[in-house]
Amino acid sequence: MHSLSSILTLPEAAQTPVGAEVFAGLTARPKTLSPWLFYDEEGSRLFEAITELPEYYLTRTERTIFANNADEILGVAGGPSGQALTMIELGAGTATKTGLLLEAAVRRQGDVDYLAIDVSESPLTAAKERIEREIPGVIVTPRVADYTTGVADFPGDGKRKMVLYIGSSIGNFEPAHAETLLRDVRAHLSPGDRLLLGVDRVKERSVLVRAYDDEAGVTASFNKNVLKRINRELGANFNPRLFQHRARWNHEHSRIEMHLESLIAQHVSIGALEMEVKFGRGETIHTENSYKFTGQGVLSMLERAGFAITQCWTDEREWFGVYLATAV
Ligand code: AVI
Repeated sequence: MHSLSSILTLPEAAQTPVGAEVFAGLTARPKTLSPWLFYDEEGSRLFEAITELPEYYLTRTERTIFANNADEILGVAGGPSGQALTMIELGAGTATKTGLLLEAAVRRQGDVDYLAIDVSESPLTAAKERIEREIPGVIVTPRVADYTTGVADFPGDGKRKMVLYIGSSIGNFEPAHAETLLRDVRAHLSPGDRLLLGVDRVKERSVLVRAYDDEAGVTASFNKNVLKRINRELGANFNPRLFQHRARWNHEHSRIEMHLESLIAQHVSIGALEMEVKFGRGETIHTENSYKFTGQGVLSMLERAGFAITQCWTDEREWFGVYLATAV
């Protein structure tokens, strides 16, 4: 006979990070799945493809801001005494845009230490190999870590530190979590150290929605890939064709929301979690928020986390903002 505690025990798969997230998200009302689930190998490839889409202006616009202002950014970040900087990037990935900032840092100070932090190892290894080959003077230290649950100590080399958190990645966190994350970064810095934060700005709704619902359907595939991942990793039987990608602007919360909408009433079984999930027609799984910021919003978020804004750079249309903040 089973004891009560063994009946109540969840299957082993529910204790893994993916299993726990899927179990919690699909038993919640409304149903949700956390955006980190997007980034398996195929999801990471699809995200790279998104960054090249004509509608997805974010990556291209931030790159242009760096291309036009990297020397000035590094000049201001280094301060009037022209101190050397150690650069630390959160969620570095393949660090393609970072190259523009590293080149400017090398022009300014001859050599640069660059600590690249990311959850996956392979893009970091590729970034180290490429950056050290293409930008002599940069020494890359890769660190595999999940910075979203807390940053470990930064190098204590006595140099001023400049943390890079670019690509509007901060926008994928709920405001309270974003603030906790920035506070944690601040706790690992000394007064006078810098943070360079790249954020997407509030703009016309149609521009925002198109960026998350592109003509070629790449973002739709990226969104639905989460269902394929659950099928593969947890033995589920989602039919991605029975879900529709939706991107909506939520004005009240200043965010783009991505959802997967069930086209019919259906049941999906998730073998490894020993669960059946029931969907009504039109019911959605909320898979991502991408917050968009005003200047005032960035200012108060940074202030609450212990930073003061030193300077901001933007593009001609003022669609994207790169904020240099100083730890106070
Ligand atoms: C990674 N992050 C900043 C992207 C964004 O724009 O929120 C993820 C993304 N989701 C759909 N398209 C891109």
